[in-house]
Parts: sequence; C-alpha cells; structure tokens
Amino acid sequence: MSTLQKIAITGKGGVGKTTLAALLAHIYAQEGRNVIAIDADPAGGLAGALGFPPELAENLTPISEMEDLIYERTGAKPGSFGGFFSLNPRVDDIPDRFSILHNGVRLLKLGTLEKGGSGCLCPENALLRALVTHLLLYRGEMLIMDMEAGVEHLGRATAQAVDAMLVVVEPGRRSIEVAERIRELAGDIGLRQLFVVGNKVRTDADRAFIAGQSPLPVVGYLSASPRVIEADLRGMAVYEAAPEAVEEARAIARQLEALAEGAEPEG
Ligand SMILES: Nc1ncnc2c1ncn2[C@@H]1O[C@H](COP(=O)(O)OP(=O)(O)O)[C@@H](O)[C@H]1O
Ligand SMILES: [Mg+2]
Repeated sequence: MSTLQKIAITGKGGVGKTTLAALLAHIYAQEGRNVIAIDADPAGGLAGALGFPPELAENLTPISEMEDLIYERTGAKPGSFGGFFSLNPRVDDIPDRFSILHNGVRLLKLGTLEKGGSGCLCPENALLRALVTHLLLYRGEMLIMDMEAGVEHLGRATAQAVDAMLVVVEPGRRSIEVAERIRELAGDIGLRQLFVVGNKVRTDADRAFIAGQSPLPVVGYLSASPRVIEADLRGMAVYEAAPEAVEEARAIARQLEALAEGAEPEG
C-alpha cells in the first residue's frame, strides 16, 4: 500500500487535466479508497468527466461564489478589501456539506482562487485557502485536485502537502514550455514531487518526443482516443466511454506510486 494520498494535476489548457483527474478519481474509488475530487479550475468540467447526472451537478455551487457562507465564516462580504476579516475561518464542515457524490467519488468545486503573489487579500481567498489547506492536511482521503495551468496560486503550506503534482503535456512544444515554467516555480513554493503525464499520444514518435523534451520524469501516457472525445461530446463519464483509457491511467497510478518518494515499498 502506497502512502501517496494527495495528487494535484496541472498543465496547459486543453491538454487533458480534467480527463486524467476523472480517470484517477474513478480508479482509486473502484479500488476501495475514499476519494475526494476537487475542481479547482475556474474553467470547471470535472463533474461532467466524472459522469455526474445533470440534476446532481446542478447542486454544485463553487465555494468562491457562496456569498452568505463567505460572509458567515470570514465576517466580510466577498470582494471587500481592506476591512477586517478572519484569515482563519472555520472550514472543516464544508467538504461534506457542499460536495456531491456519484459512483464513489465525492466532488467539491472551489471556483476561482486568486494567485498567491498578486492576489487580493479578500475574504473569498481567505476561505478558499483555508479550505484547500484543510483538505490537504486534515482529511484522510485520497484527494485528486484538478487545477488550472500553473502553481502560483498554491501557498507554501498547501504546496508542501501535495504528495505528487502531475503536469499533463501533449506532443507539442507549447505544453512542454508550460511544464518547464511550472518546474521553475515549483521549487520556490516547496513543491517536491513533480511528474509529467503525456496525453493524446498517437505514435511511438509522440512518446519519444515527450520523453525527450519533458523537463520532469514521465510517469506514463494516455493514448489519443476518439472515445475520450466522444465522452466529452455526449456528457458521459470518461471512464465509461473509454475503458482503454482507464487501463492506461491505472498504469500511470501504479508508476506514480512506485516513483513518489516516501511511498512504502511493495509487499
Ligand atoms: N487522450 C485523449 N484523446 C483524445 N481526446 C482527449 C484526450 N484527453 C483529453 N481529450 C480531449 O481534449 C479536450 C480537453 O480535455 P480536458 O481534459 O478538458 O483538458 P483540460 O482540463 O486540461 O483543459 C476534451 O475535449 C477532451 O475530451
Ligand atoms: Mg479542465
């Protein structure tokens, strides 16, 4: 049994972060783990990739948009600057109260988290930061966080609690450049374990390109698959539409467990 528990996923827009997050969340749930999936990309979409029925997904409000909750917990209205508000609001009840559950995966949607350096010192950020810290440090379940490109919005404490950061790339320069930037920033905030996942791979040449260009160790590949696209078009769970992608993602999970530092040896 591996100690790997908190996985975050980043990379350029459109490379397949949400697809990978949904596959990994499903795999760990199927294997009997308690799984919480965190949609931390303002672009969203994780509910769809996880196959949440629309009537359930409707109940999923991003925490950053819950004005009454933000006010109740921080003592200030969202968007207010300069006033007094709690930097240490109570958040421990939020994951269970505001998440939705489907096929063994609990899903929580954060909404927009402002970037650490430039971001505003405002109540909604204080609440989201406290919530992310709580999820990473004080909850015992398997966590899969689907993030936007970049790691700047993670504070040091949260970055250090991430067991593995996966950077998704596709065969092409631009997503590799994004991975390079992420690698440069990672050290500053104390992110320790970063890996690349190659997605939308069609040929051995694509694999060789990613293996040759990746600034980070590669934990595996997902093949380009019309079934994955089909799932997105039809609003189906990617793990139901593309069983071959599930098997590839399972291999990625196993390799990640083997490579992630601090993981206990098998057997
Ligand atoms: N392995 C794949 N094969 C084919 N299409 C893919 C694959 N992975 C992702 N896609 C498609 O690419 C698009 C972007 O994927 P998504 O997971 O939403 O990316 P991101 O979350 O990084 O923006 C979607 O239409 C998705 O279906
Ligand atoms: Mg996405």
